[in-house]
Amino acid sequence: MTDTTELNALEGRLTEQVEAAADLKALDDIRVSALGKKGEVSLMMRELGRMTPEQRQVMGPALNGLKDRLGALIDARRDALENAALDAALASERVDVTLPAPREPKGSLHPVSQVMEELAVIFADMGFAVAEGPDVEDDFHNFTALNFPPDHPARDTHDTFFMQAPEGQLPKVLRTHTSPVQIRTMMSGKPPIRIIAPGRVYRNDWDQTHTPMFHQVEGLVIDRETHMGHLKGCLIDFIAAFFETDQVEARFRPHHFPFTEPSAEMDVRYERVGDAVKVGSGDRWMEILGCGMVHPNVIRACGLDPDEYQGFAFGMGVDRLAMLKYGMSDLRPFFEPDPRWLAHYGFSPLLQANLATGLS
Ligand code: DAH
Repeated sequence: MTDTTELNALEGRLTEQVEAAADLKALDDIRVSALGKKGEVSLMMRELGRMTPEQRQVMGPALNGLKDRLGALIDARRDALENAALDAALASERVDVTLPAPREPKGSLHPVSQVMEELAVIFADMGFAVAEGPDVEDDFHNFTALNFPPDHPARDTHDTFFMQAPEGQLPKVLRTHTSPVQIRTMMSGKPPIRIIAPGRVYRNDWDQTHTPMFHQVEGLVIDRETHMGHLKGCLIDFIAAFFETDQVEARFRPHHFPFTEPSAEMDVRYERVGDAVKVGSGDRWMEILGCGMVHPNVIRACGLDPDEYQGFAFGMGVDRLAMLKYGMSDLRPFFEPDPRWLAHYGFSPLLQANLATGLS
């Protein structure tokens, strides 16, 4: 090739090819076929040596110009293709900030905590403070001061966990009920007393409705003229608030506890709705708590004069209340760390105790 016409045609063709290259691979193929070792332009450069000086004077600059322009064109096209690839990636991988964010896993309140809170709210409305005592109790607070005689079979019927005792001492016990908090409260303060004592208690039991650790709430009112009418009114109001109904029908069945006289078990009328209960209607009766007038011996054991002070006490199972109100039929999962159970039965920690009716 010795004139520039052909060269212009070649440049036109290569320019078109470069501009039409669809991707980096196609572009590189064109570069190799034009400027590579055996490329069309390179081969023509090699022919320069065989030309006359006059021809070379024309063709040399023409070929070099072509080579430079083509190289620049290929570089520009490569940049364009790379930018386009980046744009495409950005477009397809873009984060849509308007999409709803995935939910953060959130903890929930255990039904026992929820019910404890509900109880505290209800009784706080009636002027009760919350009192606490130790889980590891001594014989005096758990039994003796509560009027259990030394050989009383009730010490066994509670299926007590005894701790190992040092020589000559009575063993400590994992408290079998929250009643020892009554003793601690009466011994450390003066009446009038109005407390509830929520907490863990322990008995050697394990089946669908019994676990070796469970929860109770104890109640104690001590004042100068407290009588059984106060006990009934207080507990009926409590049941109404807790089960969110104003139609509580209750009966107080005579019973025996060493620490109260008279003693009763409180039953309420109810019907089943699935696994939960509806209180106030139906034709079944369910025992809900134990109660009674505090035994004079208990008041005396705490250093108070039973002729001056009387009062009532009550105790109930918190876990059982939760099962009845929120419809669980098995107690055991309460204390097995299964987050699925908690997710299902747990409560929003933000809701606190939410009672629709409250106290009337
Ligand atoms: N301490 C009893 C129990 O664990 C419950 C109880 C019954 C407590 C009657 C009381 C009460 O204060 O008056 O079974």
